[in-house]
Amino acid sequence: MDTNANNIDALLNKINLDNLPRHIAIIMDGNGRWAKKRFLPRTAGHKEGVERVKEIVEAVGNIGIPYLTLYAFSTENWGRPKEEIDALMKLLVEYLRKELNTLHKNNVKINILGDLERLPDLPKREVYKAVETTKNNIKMQLNIALNYGGRYEIINGIKSLILDVQNNRIKLDDIDEELFKNYLFTKDQPDPDLLIRPSGEKRISNFLLYQIAYTEFVFTDVYWPDFTTEELYKSIIEYQSRKRRFGGIGE
Ligand code: IPE
Ligand code: IPE
Ligand code: MG
Repeated sequence: MDTNANNIDALLNKINLDNLPRHIAIIMDGNGRWAKKRFLPRTAGHKEGVERVKEIVEAVGNIGIPYLTLYAFSTENWGRPKEEIDALMKLLVEYLRKELNTLHKNNVKINILGDLERLPDLPKREVYKAVETTKNNIKMQLNIALNYGGRYEIINGIKSLILDVQNNRIKLDDIDEELFKNYLFTKDQPDPDLLIRPSGEKRISNFLLYQIAYTEFVFTDVYWPDFTTEELYKSIIEYQSRKRRFGGIGE
């Protein structure tokens, strides 16, 4: 217990608080394999994964990072067995019911990236309530990517953009990379500086395709249910060792 706390403190001391990522995005992957390794049903992995959501949201807020995006359910995840989808939706409802007060008290604003219309009624209602309750909060923005797909987001944005051109709200010549950002779910937010994918997979799986043009990636073999605050700190330390050049030559 004590050694663990010492470890966390030692890692925290290595973090340069003047060079924190402003926006961290996480692909919460590996719940199923975490459970399988323990001869448990996949749902047990998702349940333990929710514990890490609580822990990481708190840790990110405490260190003072203003934007966190968590990939919770992709447009492709509808292809999973119905029982697993139902279990995930149930966990989402439980999470929001249990955590909304705390999140609100901690001044966290919840945004949803994705199309909520396809969600079943109960999770949809809980999500709308969470978004409505926290809409004026300013300490930290928690984006939950739910029924989210990067390609869907871009196509959806293009459709709205075309409507705005057709209705003379914008001119074709006004369209540039910055303006297009207003048509994404992450409107008004900085692009992620750091994207973390646990579970050993090294792919993007249709996450934030437009926003990650210059994001730093950290891949780790740890499964999401094992992704503790220590793992978060290690990822931030790794991020801080990178030299970001944005196409230039760096100083
Ligand atoms: C991530 O864990 C959770 C969701 C995609 C909702 P997985 O369920 O994908 O776990 P693995 O990849 O099968 O281990
Ligand atoms: C990505 O994980 C989606 C989420 C974590 C919500 P997947 O497990 O669905 O990704 P693939 O299928 O391994 O690419
Ligand atoms: Mg997976």
